[in-house]
Amino acid sequence: MKTKIVPIDEKNIDKEALKEAGMIIQKGGLVAFPTETVYGLGGNALDKSAAEKIYRAKGRPSDNPLIVHICRMEDMNSIAAQVPETAGKLADAFWPGPLTMILRKSGKVPYETTGGLDTVAVRMPGHKTALALIEAAGGYVAAPSANISGRPSPTQAKYVAEDMYGRIEMILDGGDICIGLESTIVDLTERVPVILRPGYVTKEMLERVLGHVEIDRAVLEDGQAPKAPGMKYKHYAPKGDLTIISGMQEKVVAEINRRCREMEKEGEKVGIIGTDETAAFYETGNIKSAGSRTEESSIARALYRILREFDDEGVTVIYSEAFEEPAEGGGMGQAIMNRLLKAAGHHIVKL
Ligand code: TXA
Ligand code: MG
Repeated sequence: MKTKIVPIDEKNIDKEALKEAGMIIQKGGLVAFPTETVYGLGGNALDKSAAEKIYRAKGRPSDNPLIVHICRMEDMNSIAAQVPETAGKLADAFWPGPLTMILRKSGKVPYETTGGLDTVAVRMPGHKTALALIEAAGGYVAAPSANISGRPSPTQAKYVAEDMYGRIEMILDGGDICIGLESTIVDLTERVPVILRPGYVTKEMLERVLGHVEIDRAVLEDGQAPKAPGMKYKHYAPKGDLTIISGMQEKVVAEINRRCREMEKEGEKVGIIGTDETAAFYETGNIKSAGSRTEESSIARALYRILREFDDEGVTVIYSEAFEEPAEGGGMGQAIMNRLLKAAGHHIVKL
């Protein structure tokens, strides 16, 4: 299959290109598109064969459910069997935006889309191209991140092409992504809302709307069975062996420098994920700053790109600083650390 790559500008959407993309999805095909979090791989959420195509294109196990993306508030009512009051409140507060809600599904959504579950994940993305595409495609677009299963989610169209070229009909290239980590997932099917995947919308932000919210223990602890099926799979793993070093900044820099020298002696190609505050103090290896600790959003945006760059550069051993402390004005520390821990297979050294 030849994949058509079409540039699209959120501020001046090419209507013809959008119509073509919408038709591809309506006819059962797949189109990758930008959202505010990461690029998505879209197919018709109400068509079970489209869901199967998505699983095949990603090489993803079919028990890992897909998020249904909508563009109108009222459409939540037709794919959910019941919409709790909490869902309405969250939709008013955060949609369109980087929040996914788990609800009981209606008969309209095929089990192929929900990985066999009786619940459905719903999100209204906050990206004009994404919203326009969903509308052109008929209103219900199932979209996982547009990467091969196990690789970092794509934050640029060139990474979508790297993974999906020849596997899907079209890629809408909307340039760089704004947030860079996948949406927050909150499960509203139990008595207390539970965060299954941390993201831009933090626990504190949800609690301001709902009161008490819990976090699935598997989010930051190793060895817990996660409630979101997708969170159990090895994810975002770079080809190099990644270790997180956590502790006081000066000690972390010294330890990473020591380990890098040792690894280089053994012939390894070493990469470092540092920050603007520390990058100058590293002495050897392929040093990359993820951004400034005073602006966590820049770190969130850079993380997946850096993991992919290390792959391209043939790095065999990677050391990263830890990011668990929420920085001023940020709040994405938990989401960053959750993805980093998964990428490292929970290999963390605490000094
Ligand atoms: O930001 C995002 O959410 C991106 C963009 C494209 O919208 N999408 C995304 O989809 O990250 P995906 O498929 O890569 O991740 C979806 C996650 C998986 O971990 C999956 O297991 C979980 O959502 N999920 C989906 N439906 C679920 C359900 N009914 N119950 C529990 N977890 C669910
Ligand atoms: Mg994904």
